[in-house]
Amino acid sequence: MPDALELLKTRRSIKPIELNGPGPSPAELETLLTVASRVPDHGKLVPWRFIIFEGEARLAAGAAIVAAFRSKYPDAKPEQAEAERRRLARAPLVIAVVSRAGPHVKIPEWEQVLSAGAAAMNLVLAAHALGYGASWITEWYAYDSGVLAALGLKENERIAGFVHIGRASEKPEDRPRPPLAEIATRFS
Ligand SMILES: Cc1cc2nc3c(=O)[nH]c(=O)nc-3n(C[C@H](O)[C@H](O)[C@H](O)COP(=O)(O)O)c2cc1C
Repeated sequence: MPDALELLKTRRSIKPIELNGPGPSPAELETLLTVASRVPDHGKLVPWRFIIFEGEARLAAGAAIVAAFRSKYPDAKPEQAEAERRRLARAPLVIAVVSRAGPHVKIPEWEQVLSAGAAAMNLVLAAHALGYGASWITEWYAYDSGVLAALGLKENERIAGFVHIGRASEKPEDRPRPPLAEIATRFS
């Protein structure tokens, strides 16, 4: 297991298309979900849940994505439609992090949304700690009501991210990070 600080300092997203199988084992999947659900959660509301896409189920979900795509773009070429059908089949494992944030007497909705973001980030980091690559993306279908209904989301639920997980064939180049002097100021 890589040193925790080294992992945090060097993590990079890997494009879904570059994430190969085999994906995590059942025991590793349990570890991923355990870490993802161990996040700060004001009021212990558990304002998030996870949907796992593996194997053929990734293409079954893709059927809903391509149906929504076709209704938007009836003249789309067959290869474009096929790419949409395979959206969730690029990586061996995709985990949707679903926000269940809503109005509450005490806990602001914003804080519930932040907790879902923390769950997604913990999931990404757990994947890296297990030696996998990961990518936290949403893409257009995360915002399509037809796709969300087909994936079983309720009215109040939203996609925080589709976290794609697999094995990275190459180490990605780093990208520039914001200079700390620009993003961190000392209050005085
Ligand atoms: C909520 C959320 C949604 C995102 N959705 C996308 C997306 O749809 N497509 C994309 O290319 N990157 C998306 N990203 C950005 C990637 O996760 C990633 O941060 C980016 O590729 C930069 O790579 P890095 O993590 O190595 O800095 C999203 C990030 C967040 C936090």
